[in-house]
Amino acid sequence: MTSLTPDQPEPVFARPSEEEVERVICASLVSDTRGVYATMEQIRESAMRHNPLVGIHAALVYQSGWFVYWIEGSRGVVRELLERISLDSRHQAQYVVHRSSGRHMLMTPWSMMLSPSREGREAFGRRVIALSEQVGRGTPSPPTSIIRRLVMPMRLTKVLRSTDPDAYHRVVFCAATGDGAFSLVRWLSDQYGTPVESRRHAGTANLDSASAYVEFLHSGYPCRVIAVARSNLTHGLHRSLLQDWRFLVLLFSGDPKRDAALLERVHEAFQGMPSTPEVLVVSPDAPTQVLVDDVARTYGLACLEVGHLSELDSAAIWFAVRDRLDQIGAPRPSV
Ligand SMILES: Cc1cc2nc3c(=O)[nH]c(=O)nc-3n(C[C@H](O)[C@H](O)[C@H](O)COP(=O)(O)O)c2cc1C
Repeated sequence: MTSLTPDQPEPVFARPSEEEVERVICASLVSDTRGVYATMEQIRESAMRHNPLVGIHAALVYQSGWFVYWIEGSRGVVRELLERISLDSRHQAQYVVHRSSGRHMLMTPWSMMLSPSREGREAFGRRVIALSEQVGRGTPSPPTSIIRRLVMPMRLTKVLRSTDPDAYHRVVFCAATGDGAFSLVRWLSDQYGTPVESRRHAGTANLDSASAYVEFLHSGYPCRVIAVARSNLTHGLHRSLLQDWRFLVLLFSGDPKRDAALLERVHEAFQGMPSTPEVLVVSPDAPTQVLVDDVARTYGLACLEVGHLSELDSAAIWFAVRDRLDQIGAPRPSV
């Protein structure tokens, strides 16, 4: 994937409402995995022609030779779209892995994610089949939990053995500018000796940006630390997942324009969300902190300052955030 357009804000298409929608997640085998991003761009073109007209919100993921697609909208329209998609020769076999109804959890008509995971088709397929066998049995897990379990399953054995697959800390870092969030994930990977997983994301236009994460145990609790690019915050898929983040740590740069732009993006991403993560602030100096406080106040954003640190000092940043993690103790159980 190449980045073709500058970092423009993703339009915020919809606020969640009390309107009840049908939510379906399916997985299918990709017919031709060569040039899959070009295929996804073609699908996006069709989706952007149709989805906004009929109130469909959708997200498409490619991973390990599989498509995973999450569709939300009114019952009849979702059924019609799934029938149309099932006839599409670009994939085969449609496994339903989630079905529920409730408020919109995807906020945009389109977002997509490409994963360079080296996991094979069969291993991924085993998760698809296990989840598809649970559909219709008991209370469904939220769609966000299904997406996480399918495309970014926790690898730590402590969680694998637990009955609650979502009970781990999710701490997300986002920098106003530069590589601070991604350097921190690489630094943690070196410290704990666990690998970095990366993903590419795109929204409704040509934008494409990265995220990366690493997992480890801290004080006996499983943690996932995720770095996201600023533009990712407002992509549909990420916006839906942010409800389950424990902390969103913002790394400010000292460049007033960039720093204000980051806060604006966070404000946009939080619009109408039923729950939002606690926002922690790392700024390089006191004047930057004053600016951040002022802008955050105008957006009604509550922020907790964790220190005046350089965005490139991964060790110091992690130690400051780790102190806050220690204060909260155990990860939240999934709802
Ligand atoms: C995995 C997958 C997901 C798709 N998602 C959508 C979608 O959300 N909306 C849509 O209109 N088409 C989607 N499509 C494309 C449809 O199958 C179909 O090609 C398209 O809607 C036809 O419209 P067009 O003739 O205007 O291009 C998807 C296709 C695949 C393979």
